[in-house]
Amino acid sequence: MAMSSWTLFLFSLMVVLCSAKLPMFSWDTLPVFFHSCNVTGLYSEESIKTIAKFQMVTIEKSQSHLVSGVDDEDDMMRVMKMVKDVNPNAATYFYMPSFKVHPQMSKMTRELDQHPDWYLRDSNGTKVRNRQGYYAFDVSKPDLRQWWKNFCLNALKVTNGDGCYSDSSQRYNTTFKPPLSPEKEKAWGDGLLELSKEVQQALGDDRLLIGKVANQSYVKAVQIEYFYARNSSIVELMLAVEVGQVVQAHVPITQNCCDDITNFEAAFLIGAGKYSYFGCGIWSTPNDDTNAFIWRPEYDKPLGAPNGPATYKNGVWRREFSRGTTVEFDTSTNTGTIKWGT
Ligand SMILES: *[C@@H]1O[C@H](CO)[C@@H](O)[C@H](O)[C@H]1NC(C)=O
Ligand SMILES: *[C@@H]1O[C@H](CO)[C@@H](O)[C@H](O)[C@H]1NC(C)=O
Ligand SMILES: *[C@@H]1O[C@H](CO)[C@@H](O)[C@H](O)[C@H]1NC(C)=O
Ligand SMILES: *[C@@H]1O[C@H](CO)[C@@H](O)[C@H](O)[C@H]1NC(C)=O
Ligand SMILES: *[C@@H]1O[C@H](CO)[C@@H](O)[C@H](O)[C@H]1NC(C)=O
Repeated sequence: MAMSSWTLFLFSLMVVLCSAKLPMFSWDTLPVFFHSCNVTGLYSEESIKTIAKFQMVTIEKSQSHLVSGVDDEDDMMRVMKMVKDVNPNAATYFYMPSFKVHPQMSKMTRELDQHPDWYLRDSNGTKVRNRQGYYAFDVSKPDLRQWWKNFCLNALKVTNGDGCYSDSSQRYNTTFKPPLSPEKEKAWGDGLLELSKEVQQALGDDRLLIGKVANQSYVKAVQIEYFYARNSSIVELMLAVEVGQVVQAHVPITQNCCDDITNFEAAFLIGAGKYSYFGCGIWSTPNDDTNAFIWRPEYDKPLGAPNGPATYKNGVWRREFSRGTTVEFDTSTNTGTIKWGT
């Protein structure tokens, strides 16, 4: 009797632990994420140990891009596995472009080329390019979307990964106005939304599709790619938290992560909720460059759960945390201060 309820208990515990796939989250210290890649090849063991300390890890396109004969996708998956091997609790994400045909995604591009009708084409049948010169997937086509979804699902199967990142998946008209008939343009825009919907549905409740703007439809997570030390970024972070999205707040890549980044960290802590993560670092590095995964001393400082939401008075945000940390952000100067607990 006691034995069987003990077995039942263990079994339930196992079910809970095995299905808990959302990223690890703790207020104990600043929650942080990594998003980058090594263009010259696989990271060293030492680098992987540091990268695996970040709770969320996305491997960007261009991983091993300068190594000939290697598909970036294969090495993106290899690095995801290397990270999991070192820390099974690190949540790993596979980078995907939502509609741009990036030559770096060489395997994707090869597969796409077998379906010429999956390229977005204008009314003359000419392949459409965006301002940067990239071709586009015709996301209005259901079979293209299914291929995209399977590409993501397969990467997660191979790596035991936790989700996919969908770059530029926000409503298209903010970044790209394809020269199409109004009907085709609408079908294409709707297809982009549909893609997020179908993929997040396939991923289920615990695996994430990471979109690009707060309160983006259908996705369970978003990355704010340009998280500035200013009020509008705090407000955007708060919006994503309010609607229950996992949020990655990424310091703009023009900021050197070795310099003092207190203003950004303070802005983040004012708006952060459970499952909000802070990140700093460029999208790809060569050789022994470690700029994308600087483990800053304050990442180990005691934080604690917030004692409540931030308060706003005379242009200054303020918030206190249970381990004694106090944060202020002055919107008139866009400067922040953090007094870390001890
Ligand atoms: C990047 O890849 C190369 C080749 O594998 C390796 O020598 C280098 O250490 C890697 N960089 C980092 C930061 O691990
Ligand atoms: C279609 O081709 C014609 C003739 O080359 C050109 O004038 C027109 O701009 C093209 N239309 C589109 C949508 O590119
Ligand atoms: C275009 O973007 C604006 C916001 O920038 C949005 O309000 C509008 O609904 C979008 N239109 C389409 C067709 O997506
Ligand atoms: C989030 O977006 C939806 C539309 O997609 C809108 O109805 C809702 O009001 C937004 N939520 C907030 C808190 O702004
Ligand atoms: C900052 O955002 C808050 C919340 O939306 C708003 O009440 C406040 O007026 C904003 N402050 C500035 C300086 O824009």
